[in-house]
Amino acid sequence: MASAFLRFTVAAIIGVDAATVPANVRLFFSGFAEGSSNNKYLEIYNAGTESANLGDWAFPTVSNGPTTPGVYENWNNFTAGALLGPGKVYVIAHGSADQKILDVTNQTYTYMSNGDDGVKLAYGTEADHVYVDAVGDFQADPGTGWDICGEAAGTVDHTFVRKTSVTAGNPDWDASRGTTADTCEWVVYPKDEWKYVGVHPGESVTMPTEAVLNCSTASPVSISKVQGNGSTSPMVGEVVVLKGVVTADLQGTYGGFFMQEIDGGDNDSSTSDGIYVADASVVVSQGDLVVVRGMIKENYAETPLVAVSAVDVCGKAPLPMPYFLDMLPTRNTSKTILEPLEGMLIMLSPVIVTDHYNLAKYGEMTLSSGWNPVASQVFDPLSKEHMEMYDLYRDTLMLDDANPSQNPDPVPYPGTGMTYDNYIRTGDTLTNVTGPLSYAFSKYKIQKTPGFPAPTVQHTNPREDKPPDVKGRLIIAGFNVFNYFNGDNPGPAFSSSLNRDASNAEEFAKQRKKTLSAISLVDAAVVGLLEIENDGFGVGSAVQDIVDGLKTATAPYTYMAVTFNVTDDKVGTDAIASAIIYQPKLVSVVGKAILDSSLDPMFLSINRPTLAVTFKEVFSGNEFTVVINHLKSKGSSCVACCADPDSTFVGNCNGVRTNATKAIGKWLKTYPTGSTTDDILIIGDLNSYHYETPIQTLITDFWYVDMIDKFTSKETSSSYVYAGLAGYLDHALASSTLMRNITMVMAWKINADENRALDYNTENKSASQVTSLYNDGPFRSSDHDPIIIGLYTPLVVPEQVTSAAIKPEQVTSTAPPSLTSSSTPTTMAPVATTMVPGSVTVTKVKGNHGLGRAKLQSVHTEDGRCWCSGRRHCQCDWCGCE
Ligand SMILES: *[C@@H]1O[C@H](CO)[C@@H](O)[C@H](O)[C@H]1NC(C)=O
Ligand SMILES: *[C@@H]1O[C@H](CO)[C@@H](O)[C@H](O)[C@H]1NC(C)=O
Ligand SMILES: *[C@@H]1O[C@H](CO)[C@@H](O)[C@H](O)[C@H]1NC(C)=O
Ligand SMILES: *[C@@H]1O[C@H](CO)[C@@H](O)[C@H](O)[C@H]1NC(C)=O
Ligand SMILES: *[C@@H]1O[C@H](CO)[C@@H](O)[C@H](O)[C@H]1NC(C)=O
Ligand SMILES: *[C@@H]1O[C@H](CO)[C@@H](O)[C@H](O)[C@H]1NC(C)=O
Ligand SMILES: *[C@@H]1O[C@H](CO)[C@@H](O)[C@H](O)[C@H]1NC(C)=O
Ligand SMILES: *[C@@H]1O[C@H](CO)[C@@H](O)[C@H](O)[C@H]1NC(C)=O
Ligand SMILES: *[C@@H]1O[C@H](CO)[C@@H](O)[C@H](O)[C@H]1NC(C)=O
Ligand SMILES: *[C@@H]1O[C@H](CO)[C@@H](O)[C@H](O)[C@H]1NC(C)=O
Repeated sequence: MASAFLRFTVAAIIGVDAATVPANVRLFFSGFAEGSSNNKYLEIYNAGTESANLGDWAFPTVSNGPTTPGVYENWNNFTAGALLGPGKVYVIAHGSADQKILDVTNQTYTYMSNGDDGVKLAYGTEADHVYVDAVGDFQADPGTGWDICGEAAGTVDHTFVRKTSVTAGNPDWDASRGTTADTCEWVVYPKDEWKYVGVHPGESVTMPTEAVLNCSTASPVSISKVQGNGSTSPMVGEVVVLKGVVTADLQGTYGGFFMQEIDGGDNDSSTSDGIYVADASVVVSQGDLVVVRGMIKENYAETPLVAVSAVDVCGKAPLPMPYFLDMLPTRNTSKTILEPLEGMLIMLSPVIVTDHYNLAKYGEMTLSSGWNPVASQVFDPLSKEHMEMYDLYRDTLMLDDANPSQNPDPVPYPGTGMTYDNYIRTGDTLTNVTGPLSYAFSKYKIQKTPGFPAPTVQHTNPREDKPPDVKGRLIIAGFNVFNYFNGDNPGPAFSSSLNRDASNAEEFAKQRKKTLSAISLVDAAVVGLLEIENDGFGVGSAVQDIVDGLKTATAPYTYMAVTFNVTDDKVGTDAIASAIIYQPKLVSVVGKAILDSSLDPMFLSINRPTLAVTFKEVFSGNEFTVVINHLKSKGSSCVACCADPDSTFVGNCNGVRTNATKAIGKWLKTYPTGSTTDDILIIGDLNSYHYETPIQTLITDFWYVDMIDKFTSKETSSSYVYAGLAGYLDHALASSTLMRNITMVMAWKINADENRALDYNTENKSASQVTSLYNDGPFRSSDHDPIIIGLYTPLVVPEQVTSAAIKPEQVTSTAPPSLTSSSTPTTMAPVATTMVPGSVTVTKVKGNHGLGRAKLQSVHTEDGRCWCSGRRHCQCDWCGCE
């Protein structure tokens, strides 16, 4: 059977008169960051078995272009006397870098690279040295920066970390940076990522001094003994021989394999019988019985076998039965339950995908044994129930593709690869998830493994090609169009740094098609738009672009934008604004107003201005006011600007948003549009969940009603997914009078559950993915789902068409509706005030918002005039249809 040593490659050495690096010392750059302000670092790792005296080393640099091509400009010494032990790192950073960097910094250096300055790692003296590694080169000014791993100018505004499979430096920068994620020696992370500084998960490379391993003579220790019953191995640093069966051969993509004891291990449920072996030097296959010699390491709380010096394949052995988890542990219990399984083969009973944000980027998804609503949507964030819900989330496991390279092609799930039509949504169910359990980046992960059945995706949260039927005669919609910037004139060009999102005309054309396809399918009388470029209302503005586009859509619609007389044609000061468009054949504008900080200082200008527009329905003459909002997000902190403390559970800036809704409630009482209607509908992204104070203020102080909760439920409704938790930041809050006239409210779930790789962006996609992941259709036209609100029960023509609504097309502003039956009076009020007792029928509402739970039910009267629904009981009382 095969037996081999690790092949030992001396770092390629260039230079004259070569100084010789000591045989058992092996330094290389393990990490590099070029981030915001002075947040930059350079990390050096010793993969050898002996300490390095850094007095013998230096890190010469060139700033921008070299004075003499190929020659350093600054010879930089390490701190005198510094010793770098095997397996340890040494961090060089700017003295005013982020504290997370400074916490692990060993030496400060002021002239850190801006991404266009080369640095090398040299052994020897200024007069006589060799280069062993490089980030950048000394040949020429690269311009902005060097491309790395296919990332254009990736040495700027990124953090990159040496792949764990790299065991030596590479002075050939072009070879090291490669041209794709697969051909380079690095893993590139976004700007300002400090997770990886201060420790490197590489292997210490022992020299080939040990004897050949032989299956028949080896004396292995048990894997369970190595794993121990605690959170770390009791044998860290020891060189051991292990014997077991290869359960997962991931050498090709992941750089190693998982092995597990045969014959059931030690039968102790507190110790794991499996382990990850970080070695690809000897080819093994699933089912091989092997003996392996290597060193036990604790690597970010995982216990792998590293520095493997010998492997012998003894034959074949049956794979152990996977440990079956019929329910994932809670956040509270995950460590206790999963730690003893680390390294072992596990299998899951059907699980729900709750997060796939990084599916196309890192090939990973979060799995859960249940749908996870945002806790502060379901419970008061100060309550005990809220805390419990948070602790009891079962989202403790990730499914990974056992491939650390970025932007895999194909995207590994579902099936043979994701496309627009072969999709996976949050709320979908995976069965047959089987693989070894690993632990990396503070997450337990089950690694996709060849040889086991691929996880099967069931669309338990299926796509709906059409918007939900909200039964109204008039549809109102709120839709976040995710930075709709249409290029130059007015406003910034695609190439400008002030532009957001679509980075060129090609991407914008796709964004536009998707956006228009979503809006036109909804066919709303009034659409409140969020995140639209703040460039006025004239020719070429983003809002006019949408209006123009709807005119030429497959089914053309005539919309108009509500214009506002604002300074410089800007609504507020942000790059994005809210806007309202409407169909003039259905509604006309009666009055309009803007709320900003000039009107009420409690409404801080970090909220986008709120717009209120009173419309008159052409058909009935009824007036109602639509109020569109986009309050400050939960993202950046409001401590510095507004003395508003950050919060773990309701996000940042909750006080800012609460003051904003107080101001909105007060303002609306003053009838700012000039119309005295009390029928008000508050829509848009309030960046708050139901039980958070901004929403509660509107409910308790101003008597608005959360219509999404009324019609569906807080437990199951969502329009947005963040970090695996689903909820609705986008609202439909009706005044207590308008509430009676609302027929149904639902999110059309075209976006939040869909993978972001299906959007219009072309970055980080292969040429074939640019085609296969894209479609003009509405799915992933944005990151939020549109909220669709039905207003006014449609009139029903008795006997003739039992359920037909008056089609908006039939209504014109000049002629009264031409109904087919003469028995229907054209002047009939849209909503009856009394109901016929006993005329209640139960029907299913279209759409499965329970995501695997019970379908929702709704109740309406036979004549269709009062429609109401509820989750636990019929909520008819408030619309009088007892
Ligand atoms: C670097 O170290 C060498 C050897 O100790 C010393 O001669 C030289 O002056 C140092 N250079 C700098 C820039 O400190
Ligand atoms: C580098 O800094 C870290 C964190 O302070 C420290 O643990 C380590 O010993 C230092 N290494 C050297 C070689 O000075
Ligand atoms: C392993 O040991 C057995 C028994 O001593 C011997 O017959 C065999 O040749 C050895 N295999 C190798 C590869 O050395
Ligand atoms: C853990 O292992 C140690 C050493 O074998 C043993 O003394 C201890 O009792 C074990 N603890 C548990 C909870 O099994
Ligand atoms: C394994 O442990 C269980 C419970 O601790 C015990 O009932 C069983 O007999 C053990 N099996 C073996 C093979 O020792
Ligand atoms: C979760 O763990 C925390 C801290 O250990 C504890 O305070 C809390 O009660 C636990 N929650 C549940 C629901 O078990
Ligand atoms: C799970 O895998 C088994 C074995 O390959 C197969 O028989 C079964 O149909 C799979 N289940 C699903 C739901 O795909
Ligand atoms: C727009 O506002 C300016 C400044 O308040 C005012 O002078 C102008 O008359 C307004 N224009 C319209 C069309 O209302
Ligand atoms: C909210 O408004 C109150 C009253 O004006 C003010 O005292 C408080 O500082 C404001 N809070 C925030 C976070 O803006
Ligand atoms: C809403 O319904 C009530 C009760 O049927 C009616 O009085 C009111 O006029 C309606 N509001 C609008 C804006 O039509």
